Amino acid sequence: MEKYLLAIDQGTTSSRAILFATTGEAIAIGRYAYEQHYPADGWVEHEPEDIWRTTLRSCQDAISRADLDVGSIAAIGITNQRETTVLWHRKTGKAVHRAIVWQDRRTAEFCDNLQRNLIAEGNPDWIQEKTGLLPDPYFSASKLAWLLENVPGAREEAEAGNLAFGTVDCFLLWHLTGGKVHATDASNASRTMLFNIHTQNWDDELLSRFNIPDSILPEVKNSADDFGSTDARLFGRKIPITAMIGDQQSATVGQGCLSTGMTKSTYGTGSFLLMNTGEKAIQSDHRLLTTVAYRLQGKTSYALEGSIFMAGATMQWLRDKLRLFDDTAQSEALARQAQPGLPVMMVPAFTGLGAPWWDADARAAIYGLTRDAGIPELVAAALMSVCFQTKDLQKAMESDGLRPTTLRVDGGMSANNLMLQNLADLLGCEVSRPKITETTALGAAFLAGLHCGLFNSLGDIESLWQQDRAFTPTKDKDWRDHHYNRWLDAIARTRSQHG
Ligand code: G3P
Repeated sequence: MEKYLLAIDQGTTSSRAILFATTGEAIAIGRYAYEQHYPADGWVEHEPEDIWRTTLRSCQDAISRADLDVGSIAAIGITNQRETTVLWHRKTGKAVHRAIVWQDRRTAEFCDNLQRNLIAEGNPDWIQEKTGLLPDPYFSASKLAWLLENVPGAREEAEAGNLAFGTVDCFLLWHLTGGKVHATDASNASRTMLFNIHTQNWDDELLSRFNIPDSILPEVKNSADDFGSTDARLFGRKIPITAMIGDQQSATVGQGCLSTGMTKSTYGTGSFLLMNTGEKAIQSDHRLLTTVAYRLQGKTSYALEGSIFMAGATMQWLRDKLRLFDDTAQSEALARQAQPGLPVMMVPAFTGLGAPWWDADARAAIYGLTRDAGIPELVAAALMSVCFQTKDLQKAMESDGLRPTTLRVDGGMSANNLMLQNLADLLGCEVSRPKITETTALGAAFLAGLHCGLFNSLGDIESLWQQDRAFTPTKDKDWRDHHYNRWLDAIARTRSQHG
Protein backbone atom coordinates (compact mmCIF):
# COMPACT_ATOMS: atom_id res chain seq x y z
CA MET A 1 0.00 0.00 0.00
CA GLU A 2 1.31 3.45 -0.92
CA LYS A 3 2.27 5.46 2.17
CA TYR A 4 1.49 9.11 2.97
CA LEU A 5 2.61 11.64 5.54
CA LEU A 6 0.32 14.08 7.29
CA ALA A 7 1.84 17.44 8.18
CA ILE A 8 0.13 19.76 10.63
CA ASP A 9 1.14 23.39 10.12
CA GLN A 10 -0.33 25.42 12.95
CA GLY A 11 0.38 29.04 11.99
CA THR A 12 -0.35 32.44 13.49
CA THR A 13 -3.48 33.13 11.48
CA SER A 14 -4.59 29.69 10.33
CA SER A 15 -4.26 25.99 11.07
CA ARG A 16 -3.52 23.71 8.13
CA ALA A 17 -3.04 20.04 7.51
CA ILE A 18 -1.48 18.69 4.33
CA LEU A 19 -1.24 15.09 3.21
CA PHE A 20 1.94 14.48 1.26
CA ALA A 21 3.04 11.63 -0.96
CA THR A 22 6.66 10.58 -0.45
CA THR A 23 7.57 12.52 -3.61
CA GLY A 24 6.70 15.74 -1.74
CA GLU A 25 3.50 16.18 -3.73
CA ALA A 26 0.60 17.61 -1.70
CA ILE A 27 -2.41 15.28 -2.07
CA ALA A 28 -5.02 17.10 0.02
CA ILE A 29 -5.27 20.14 2.26
CA GLY A 30 -7.50 21.19 5.15
CA ARG A 31 -7.35 24.77 6.40
CA TYR A 32 -9.17 26.97 8.88
CA ALA A 33 -8.45 30.57 9.82
CA TYR A 34 -9.19 31.51 13.40
CA GLU A 35 -9.73 34.63 15.45
CA GLN A 36 -6.99 36.97 16.62
CA HIS A 37 -7.57 38.81 19.90
CA TYR A 38 -6.02 42.23 20.60
CA PRO A 39 -7.14 43.06 24.17
CA ALA A 40 -4.77 46.04 24.60
CA ASP A 41 -2.09 47.98 22.71
CA GLY A 42 0.63 45.51 21.79
CA TRP A 43 -1.23 42.48 23.19
CA VAL A 44 -2.00 39.54 20.89
CA GLU A 45 -3.81 36.41 22.07
CA HIS A 46 -5.25 33.18 20.66
CA GLU A 47 -7.93 31.01 22.16
CA PRO A 48 -6.14 27.64 22.72
CA GLU A 49 -9.40 25.84 22.07
CA ASP A 50 -9.50 27.50 18.58
CA ILE A 51 -5.95 26.33 17.91
CA TRP A 52 -6.87 22.75 18.79
CA ARG A 53 -10.31 22.69 17.13
CA THR A 54 -9.11 24.19 13.81
CA THR A 55 -6.12 21.84 13.74
CA LEU A 56 -8.25 18.77 14.31
CA ARG A 57 -10.81 19.80 11.69
CA SER A 58 -8.02 20.56 9.17
CA CYS A 59 -6.61 17.06 9.66
CA GLN A 60 -10.04 15.44 9.34
CA ASP A 61 -10.77 17.49 6.18
CA ALA A 62 -7.45 16.63 4.54
CA ILE A 63 -7.94 12.93 5.27
CA SER A 64 -11.50 12.84 3.96
CA ARG A 65 -10.60 14.88 0.84
CA ALA A 66 -7.76 12.50 0.00
CA ASP A 67 -10.24 9.64 0.33
CA LEU A 68 -7.65 7.18 1.54
CA ASP A 69 -7.39 4.44 4.12
CA VAL A 70 -6.16 6.05 7.37
CA GLY A 71 -3.84 3.04 7.69
CA SER A 72 -1.86 4.35 4.72
CA ILE A 73 -0.81 7.44 6.71
CA ALA A 74 2.59 6.33 7.93
CA ALA A 75 3.11 9.19 10.37
CA ILE A 76 2.27 12.73 11.41
CA GLY A 77 4.74 15.63 11.63
CA ILE A 78 3.79 18.78 13.53
CA THR A 79 5.14 22.24 12.76
CA ASN A 80 3.94 25.39 14.42
CA GLN A 81 4.07 29.09 15.16
CA ARG A 82 6.86 29.27 17.72
CA GLU A 83 7.19 30.99 21.12
CA THR A 84 3.40 31.32 21.57
CA THR A 85 2.82 30.28 25.16
CA VAL A 86 0.09 28.04 26.56
CA LEU A 87 -0.43 26.96 30.16
CA TRP A 88 -3.08 24.31 30.81
CA HIS A 89 -4.50 22.01 33.45
CA ARG A 90 -3.07 18.51 33.26
CA LYS A 91 -6.36 16.91 34.33
CA THR A 92 -8.75 18.66 31.96
CA GLY A 93 -6.50 19.94 29.15
CA LYS A 94 -8.17 23.36 29.63
CA ALA A 95 -5.90 26.39 29.32
CA VAL A 96 -5.74 28.77 32.30
CA HIS A 97 -5.72 31.79 29.96
CA ARG A 98 -5.66 32.55 26.26
CA ALA A 99 -2.35 31.73 24.57
CA ILE A 100 0.04 34.71 24.55
CA VAL A 101 1.16 35.01 20.95
CA TRP A 102 4.78 35.51 19.85
CA GLN A 103 3.89 39.01 18.58
CA ASP A 104 2.63 40.10 22.01
CA ARG A 105 4.61 42.94 23.63
CA ARG A 106 3.06 43.08 27.12
CA THR A 107 6.30 42.05 28.79
CA ALA A 108 8.41 44.77 27.15
CA GLU A 109 9.06 46.52 30.47
CA PHE A 110 9.90 43.23 32.20
CA CYS A 111 12.47 42.52 29.46
CA ASP A 112 13.92 46.05 29.65
CA ASN A 113 14.38 45.63 33.41
CA LEU A 114 15.93 42.22 32.93
CA GLN A 115 18.46 43.62 30.48
CA ARG A 116 19.21 46.58 32.76
CA ASN A 117 19.82 44.23 35.69
CA LEU A 118 22.12 42.03 33.65
CA ILE A 119 24.12 45.07 32.61
CA ALA A 120 24.31 46.23 36.26
CA GLU A 121 25.53 42.76 37.23
CA GLY A 122 28.27 43.04 34.62
CA ASN A 123 26.78 40.17 32.63
CA PRO A 124 24.93 41.74 29.68
CA ASP A 125 25.30 38.70 27.40
CA TRP A 126 24.20 36.10 29.97
CA ILE A 127 20.92 35.27 28.21
CA GLN A 128 22.43 35.26 24.74
CA GLU A 129 25.30 33.01 25.78
CA LYS A 130 22.96 30.37 27.17
CA THR A 131 20.00 30.59 24.80
CA GLY A 132 21.21 32.35 21.63
CA LEU A 133 18.32 34.81 22.15
CA LEU A 134 18.12 38.47 23.17
CA PRO A 135 15.94 39.72 26.04
CA ASP A 136 12.73 40.61 24.19
CA PRO A 137 9.03 39.94 24.80
CA TYR A 138 9.03 37.80 21.61
CA PHE A 139 10.17 34.65 23.45
CA SER A 140 8.14 32.43 25.80
CA ALA A 141 9.89 32.92 29.16
CA SER A 142 8.55 36.39 30.02
CA LYS A 143 5.08 35.44 28.70
CA LEU A 144 5.02 32.38 30.94
CA ALA A 145 6.24 34.45 33.91
CA TRP A 146 3.38 36.90 33.18
CA LEU A 147 0.80 34.07 33.19
CA LEU A 148 2.10 32.69 36.49
CA GLU A 149 2.02 36.15 38.07
CA ASN A 150 -1.28 37.41 36.68
CA VAL A 151 -3.68 34.48 36.39
CA PRO A 152 -5.27 34.00 39.81
CA GLY A 153 -4.18 30.72 41.38
CA ALA A 154 -1.84 29.78 38.50
CA ARG A 155 1.37 29.86 40.53
CA GLU A 156 -0.07 27.70 43.33
CA GLU A 157 -1.47 25.20 40.82
CA ALA A 158 1.85 25.15 38.98
CA GLU A 159 3.84 24.58 42.19
CA ALA A 160 1.46 21.72 43.02
CA GLY A 161 2.29 20.09 39.68
CA ASN A 162 -1.21 20.51 38.25
CA LEU A 163 -0.30 22.67 35.23
CA ALA A 164 1.57 21.99 32.02
CA PHE A 165 3.39 24.59 29.92
CA GLY A 166 4.07 24.26 26.24
CA THR A 167 4.53 26.02 22.96
CA VAL A 168 1.88 25.20 20.34
CA ASP A 169 3.55 21.95 19.15
CA CYS A 170 3.46 20.64 22.70
CA PHE A 171 -0.12 21.74 23.34
CA LEU A 172 -1.27 20.01 20.13
CA LEU A 173 0.68 16.86 20.95
CA TRP A 174 -1.02 16.73 24.35
CA HIS A 175 -4.45 16.88 22.71
CA LEU A 176 -3.62 14.57 19.82
CA THR A 177 -2.40 11.88 22.21
CA GLY A 178 -5.43 12.28 24.50
CA GLY A 179 -3.34 13.91 27.26
CA LYS A 180 -0.78 11.08 27.30
CA VAL A 181 2.37 12.89 26.08
CA HIS A 182 3.83 16.16 27.34
CA ALA A 183 6.84 16.77 25.11
CA THR A 184 8.38 19.28 22.75
CA ASP A 185 11.37 19.18 20.41
CA ALA A 186 14.74 20.94 20.70
CA SER A 187 13.93 23.53 17.98
CA ASN A 188 10.80 24.71 19.79
CA ALA A 189 12.49 24.54 23.19
CA SER A 190 15.25 26.78 21.83
CA ARG A 191 12.68 29.60 21.41
CA THR A 192 11.49 29.64 25.01
CA MET A 193 14.54 31.40 26.56
CA LEU A 194 14.56 28.68 29.22
CA PHE A 195 16.56 26.13 27.23
CA ASN A 196 20.34 26.05 27.10
CA ILE A 197 21.15 25.44 23.43
CA HIS A 198 24.67 24.22 24.21
CA THR A 199 23.85 21.65 26.92
CA GLN A 200 20.45 20.89 25.28
CA ASN A 201 18.71 21.01 28.66
CA TRP A 202 16.25 23.26 30.50
CA ASP A 203 18.53 25.64 32.36
CA ASP A 204 18.09 25.83 36.15
CA GLU A 205 19.58 29.32 36.39
CA LEU A 206 17.18 30.66 33.75
CA LEU A 207 14.24 28.93 35.42
CA SER A 208 15.07 30.56 38.71
CA ARG A 209 15.66 33.98 37.08
CA PHE A 210 12.18 33.85 35.50
CA ASN A 211 10.72 32.14 38.59
CA ILE A 212 9.38 29.15 36.62
CA PRO A 213 8.81 25.84 38.46
CA ASP A 214 10.31 22.92 36.52
CA SER A 215 7.25 20.73 37.22
CA ILE A 216 5.41 22.46 34.34
CA LEU A 217 8.04 21.79 31.65
CA PRO A 218 7.73 19.25 28.84
CA GLU A 219 10.32 16.62 27.97
CA VAL A 220 12.59 17.80 25.13
CA LYS A 221 13.01 15.27 22.32
CA ASN A 222 14.78 15.17 18.96
CA SER A 223 12.93 16.87 16.09
CA ALA A 224 12.38 13.43 14.52
CA ASP A 225 11.49 11.09 17.37
CA ASP A 226 8.80 8.90 18.82
CA PHE A 227 6.19 11.35 20.13
CA GLY A 228 3.47 8.74 20.76
CA SER A 229 0.33 8.07 18.71
CA THR A 230 -2.93 9.87 18.16
CA ASP A 231 -5.91 8.91 20.27
CA ALA A 232 -7.71 6.30 18.11
CA ARG A 233 -11.01 8.18 18.44
CA LEU A 234 -9.73 11.20 16.49
CA PHE A 235 -9.10 9.63 13.06
CA GLY A 236 -10.60 6.16 13.42
CA ARG A 237 -7.26 4.54 14.29
CA LYS A 238 -3.95 5.44 15.88
CA ILE A 239 -1.38 7.31 13.78
CA PRO A 240 2.22 7.62 15.03
CA ILE A 241 3.55 11.16 15.54
CA THR A 242 7.23 11.09 14.59
CA ALA A 243 8.29 14.71 14.11
CA MET A 244 7.85 18.10 15.75
CA ILE A 245 9.73 21.20 14.67
CA GLY A 246 9.21 24.98 14.83
CA ASP A 247 7.80 26.37 11.59
CA GLN A 248 10.86 28.34 10.50
CA GLN A 249 13.18 25.45 11.17
CA SER A 250 10.75 23.19 9.32
CA ALA A 251 10.85 25.49 6.29
CA THR A 252 14.66 25.31 6.45
CA VAL A 253 14.37 21.51 6.13
CA GLY A 254 11.63 21.75 3.48
CA GLN A 255 13.83 24.12 1.47
CA GLY A 256 16.64 21.56 1.54
CA CYS A 257 18.87 24.04 3.43
CA LEU A 258 20.60 21.17 5.15
CA SER A 259 24.25 22.06 4.69
CA THR A 260 26.26 24.80 6.29
CA GLY A 261 25.76 28.23 4.71
CA MET A 262 22.45 27.46 2.99
CA THR A 263 19.85 30.15 3.68
CA LYS A 264 16.11 30.52 3.38
CA SER A 265 13.62 33.29 4.05
CA THR A 266 9.94 32.55 4.64
CA TYR A 267 7.34 35.25 4.03
CA GLY A 268 4.30 34.34 6.14
CA THR A 269 2.66 36.48 8.84
CA GLY A 270 6.16 37.59 9.74
CA SER A 271 9.35 36.82 7.89
CA PHE A 272 12.21 34.71 9.11
CA LEU A 273 15.61 34.31 7.51
CA LEU A 274 17.67 31.33 8.65
CA MET A 275 21.18 30.31 7.69
CA ASN A 276 22.16 26.75 8.53
CA THR A 277 25.45 26.91 10.45
CA GLY A 278 25.80 23.16 10.95
CA GLU A 279 27.21 21.88 14.24
CA LYS A 280 28.46 25.34 15.16
CA ALA A 281 26.28 27.63 17.29
CA ILE A 282 27.51 31.00 16.02
CA GLN A 283 26.85 33.84 18.45
CA SER A 284 25.91 37.01 16.57
CA ASP A 285 27.52 40.34 17.43
CA HIS A 286 24.84 42.10 15.39
CA ARG A 287 21.66 41.17 17.17
CA LEU A 288 20.68 38.08 15.22
CA LEU A 289 19.55 34.97 17.04
CA THR A 290 21.29 31.63 17.40
CA THR A 291 18.77 28.85 17.35
CA VAL A 292 18.44 25.08 17.05
CA ALA A 293 17.67 24.28 13.41
CA TYR A 294 16.90 20.62 14.23
CA ARG A 295 18.19 17.84 16.44
CA LEU A 296 18.42 14.39 14.90
CA GLN A 297 19.56 11.29 16.83
CA GLY A 298 21.00 13.54 19.52
CA LYS A 299 23.04 15.60 17.03
CA THR A 300 22.15 19.31 16.96
CA SER A 301 22.35 21.52 13.86
CA TYR A 302 22.19 25.24 14.54
CA ALA A 303 21.05 28.26 12.56
CA LEU A 304 21.55 31.99 12.65
CA GLU A 305 18.16 33.68 12.42
CA GLY A 306 16.78 37.11 11.67
CA SER A 307 13.15 37.54 12.72
CA ILE A 308 10.86 40.19 11.23
CA PHE A 309 7.44 40.55 12.85
CA MET A 310 5.39 41.97 9.96
CA ALA A 311 5.45 40.68 6.37
CA GLY A 312 2.17 39.15 5.13
CA ALA A 313 0.55 40.70 8.21
CA THR A 314 1.25 44.16 6.72
CA MET A 315 -0.67 43.17 3.59
CA GLN A 316 -3.50 41.85 5.77
CA TRP A 317 -3.60 45.21 7.55
CA LEU A 318 -3.92 47.02 4.21
CA ARG A 319 -6.70 44.61 3.25
CA ASP A 320 -8.67 44.39 6.51
CA LYS A 321 -8.16 47.75 8.18
CA LEU A 322 -7.63 50.14 5.25
CA ARG A 323 -9.67 47.99 2.83
CA LEU A 324 -7.35 48.82 -0.06
CA PHE A 325 -8.10 45.48 -1.76
CA ASP A 326 -10.15 42.33 -1.17
CA ASP A 327 -7.47 39.73 -1.69
CA THR A 328 -3.74 39.98 -0.96
CA ALA A 329 -3.13 38.30 -4.34
CA GLN A 330 -4.15 41.66 -5.89
CA SER A 331 -1.18 43.41 -4.30
CA GLU A 332 1.26 42.69 -7.12
CA ALA A 333 -0.97 44.14 -9.84
CA LEU A 334 -1.69 47.20 -7.69
CA ALA A 335 1.96 47.81 -6.84
CA ARG A 336 2.85 47.61 -10.53
CA GLN A 337 0.62 50.66 -11.08
CA ALA A 338 2.61 52.75 -8.56
CA GLN A 339 4.28 55.84 -10.01
CA PRO A 340 8.01 55.29 -9.98
CA GLY A 341 10.03 57.68 -7.84
CA LEU A 342 7.35 58.73 -5.36
CA PRO A 343 8.96 58.84 -1.91
CA VAL A 344 6.38 56.83 0.09
CA MET A 345 8.07 54.72 2.75
CA MET A 346 6.33 52.44 5.25
CA VAL A 347 7.93 51.11 8.44
CA PRO A 348 5.54 48.35 9.61
CA ALA A 349 6.44 48.44 13.32
CA PHE A 350 2.85 47.52 14.29
CA THR A 351 4.16 45.21 17.02
CA GLY A 352 7.54 46.85 17.48
CA LEU A 353 10.61 46.07 15.41
CA GLY A 354 12.34 42.68 15.44
CA ALA A 355 15.87 41.92 14.28
CA PRO A 356 18.23 43.66 14.18
CA TRP A 357 16.55 46.63 15.93
CA TRP A 358 14.69 44.84 18.77
CA ASP A 359 12.57 47.84 19.62
CA ALA A 360 9.39 46.62 21.31
CA ASP A 361 8.00 50.15 21.75
CA ALA A 362 8.38 51.42 18.17
CA ARG A 363 5.10 51.77 16.27
CA ALA A 364 4.38 51.78 12.53
CA ALA A 365 4.70 54.90 10.39
CA ILE A 366 4.26 56.02 6.78
CA TYR A 367 6.52 58.77 5.44
CA GLY A 368 6.72 60.80 2.25
CA LEU A 369 3.01 61.02 1.41
CA THR A 370 2.28 63.50 -1.38
CA ARG A 371 -1.02 64.34 -3.04
CA ASP A 372 -0.06 62.02 -5.90
CA ALA A 373 0.22 59.07 -3.56
CA GLY A 374 -2.68 56.64 -3.61
CA ILE A 375 -3.46 52.97 -3.16
CA PRO A 376 -0.78 51.65 -5.58
CA GLU A 377 1.96 53.67 -3.87
CA LEU A 378 0.91 52.48 -0.41
CA VAL A 379 0.82 48.87 -1.54
CA ALA A 380 4.21 49.21 -3.25
CA ALA A 381 5.67 50.77 -0.08
CA ALA A 382 4.29 47.90 2.02
CA LEU A 383 5.88 45.31 -0.30
CA MET A 384 9.17 47.22 -0.28
CA SER A 385 9.13 47.32 3.54
CA VAL A 386 9.37 43.53 3.52
CA CYS A 387 12.39 43.70 1.19
CA PHE A 388 14.08 46.43 3.26
CA GLN A 389 13.67 44.41 6.44
CA THR A 390 15.29 41.42 4.74
CA LYS A 391 18.13 43.73 3.68
CA ASP A 392 18.61 44.69 7.37
CA LEU A 393 19.10 41.00 8.14
CA GLN A 394 21.49 40.48 5.24
CA LYS A 395 23.57 43.44 6.49
CA ALA A 396 23.64 42.03 10.04
CA MET A 397 24.73 38.62 8.74
CA GLU A 398 27.45 40.20 6.63
CA SER A 399 28.70 42.08 9.70
CA ASP A 400 28.87 38.71 11.46
CA GLY A 401 31.08 37.54 8.59
CA LEU A 402 28.48 35.43 6.75
CA ARG A 403 27.17 36.04 3.25
CA PRO A 404 24.62 33.79 1.57
CA THR A 405 25.09 33.70 -2.18
CA THR A 406 21.56 32.53 -2.90
CA LEU A 407 18.45 33.06 -0.86
CA ARG A 408 15.71 30.41 -1.11
CA VAL A 409 12.30 31.96 -0.48
CA ASP A 410 8.89 30.55 0.37
CA GLY A 411 5.65 31.39 2.16
CA GLY A 412 2.50 33.05 0.81
CA MET A 413 4.18 36.29 -0.29
CA SER A 414 6.79 34.44 -2.36
CA ALA A 415 4.11 34.10 -5.07
CA ASN A 416 4.61 37.85 -5.67
CA ASN A 417 7.08 38.16 -8.57
CA LEU A 418 7.42 41.92 -8.23
CA MET A 419 8.39 41.63 -4.59
CA LEU A 420 10.96 38.93 -5.31
CA GLN A 421 12.54 40.96 -8.13
CA ASN A 422 12.76 43.99 -5.81
CA LEU A 423 14.26 41.72 -3.16
CA ALA A 424 16.96 40.44 -5.53
CA ASP A 425 17.70 44.02 -6.63
CA LEU A 426 17.97 45.28 -3.07
CA LEU A 427 20.01 42.34 -1.73
CA GLY A 428 22.23 42.15 -4.80
CA CYS A 429 22.03 38.36 -4.71
CA GLU A 430 20.00 35.66 -6.43
CA VAL A 431 16.61 34.88 -4.96
CA SER A 432 15.33 31.41 -5.72
CA ARG A 433 11.77 30.13 -5.42
CA PRO A 434 11.11 26.37 -5.24
CA LYS A 435 8.38 24.53 -7.14
CA ILE A 436 6.78 23.47 -3.88
CA THR A 437 6.26 26.57 -1.74
CA GLU A 438 4.51 24.61 1.03
CA THR A 439 7.97 24.13 2.46
CA THR A 440 7.00 24.64 6.10
CA ALA A 441 4.60 21.70 6.11
CA LEU A 442 6.92 19.72 3.87
CA GLY A 443 9.82 19.95 6.36
CA ALA A 444 7.75 18.39 9.15
CA ALA A 445 6.43 15.70 6.78
CA PHE A 446 9.98 14.88 5.67
CA LEU A 447 11.24 14.53 9.23
CA ALA A 448 8.26 12.37 10.14
CA GLY A 449 9.07 10.20 7.10
CA LEU A 450 12.74 10.06 8.06
CA HIS A 451 11.93 8.75 11.51
CA CYS A 452 9.50 6.11 10.32
CA GLY A 453 11.87 4.87 7.61
CA LEU A 454 10.22 6.27 4.45
CA PHE A 455 13.45 8.21 3.83
CA ASN A 456 16.96 6.97 4.53
CA SER A 457 18.78 10.22 5.12
CA LEU A 458 18.57 13.99 4.84
CA GLY A 459 20.19 13.53 1.41
CA ASP A 460 16.93 11.97 0.16
CA ILE A 461 15.14 15.09 1.25
CA GLU A 462 17.68 17.44 -0.32
CA SER A 463 17.42 15.73 -3.69
CA LEU A 464 13.65 16.36 -3.90
CA TRP A 465 14.08 20.19 -3.95
CA GLN A 466 13.39 21.75 -7.35
CA GLN A 467 13.60 25.36 -8.46
CA ASP A 468 10.57 27.11 -9.94
CA ARG A 469 12.20 30.44 -10.78
CA ALA A 470 15.35 32.43 -9.98
CA PHE A 471 15.33 36.23 -9.69
CA THR A 472 18.69 37.83 -10.43
CA PRO A 473 19.70 41.40 -9.49
CA THR A 474 19.21 44.04 -12.20
CA LYS A 475 20.31 47.13 -10.22
CA ASP A 476 23.74 48.47 -9.30
CA LYS A 477 25.26 49.31 -5.92
CA ASP A 478 24.39 53.03 -6.17
CA TRP A 479 20.71 52.19 -6.59
CA ARG A 480 20.85 49.79 -3.65
CA ASP A 481 22.65 52.24 -1.38
CA HIS A 482 20.36 55.13 -2.29
CA HIS A 483 17.18 53.23 -1.49
CA TYR A 484 18.54 51.50 1.58
CA ASN A 485 19.74 54.79 3.07
CA ARG A 486 16.24 56.20 2.73
CA TRP A 487 14.97 53.16 4.65
CA LEU A 488 17.55 53.64 7.41
CA ASP A 489 16.44 57.24 7.69
CA ALA A 490 12.80 56.14 8.06
CA ILE A 491 13.83 53.57 10.69
CA ALA A 492 15.72 56.21 12.67
CA ARG A 493 12.61 58.40 12.68
CA THR A 494 10.39 55.51 13.82
CA ARG A 495 12.43 54.02 16.66
CA SER A 496 11.38 54.61 20.26
CA GLN A 497 13.79 56.03 22.81
CA HIS A 498 14.07 52.58 24.38
CA GLY A 499 15.11 50.70 21.25
O1 G3P B 1 8.48 32.94 15.48
C1 G3P B 1 7.18 33.11 15.01
C2 G3P B 1 6.92 32.26 13.80
O2 G3P B 1 7.18 30.93 14.11
C3 G3P B 1 5.53 32.50 13.25
O3 G3P B 1 5.45 32.03 11.97
O4 G3P B 1 4.39 31.42 9.87
O5 G3P B 1 2.96 31.96 11.78
O6 G3P B 1 4.28 33.75 10.63
P1 G3P B 1 4.17 32.33 11.01
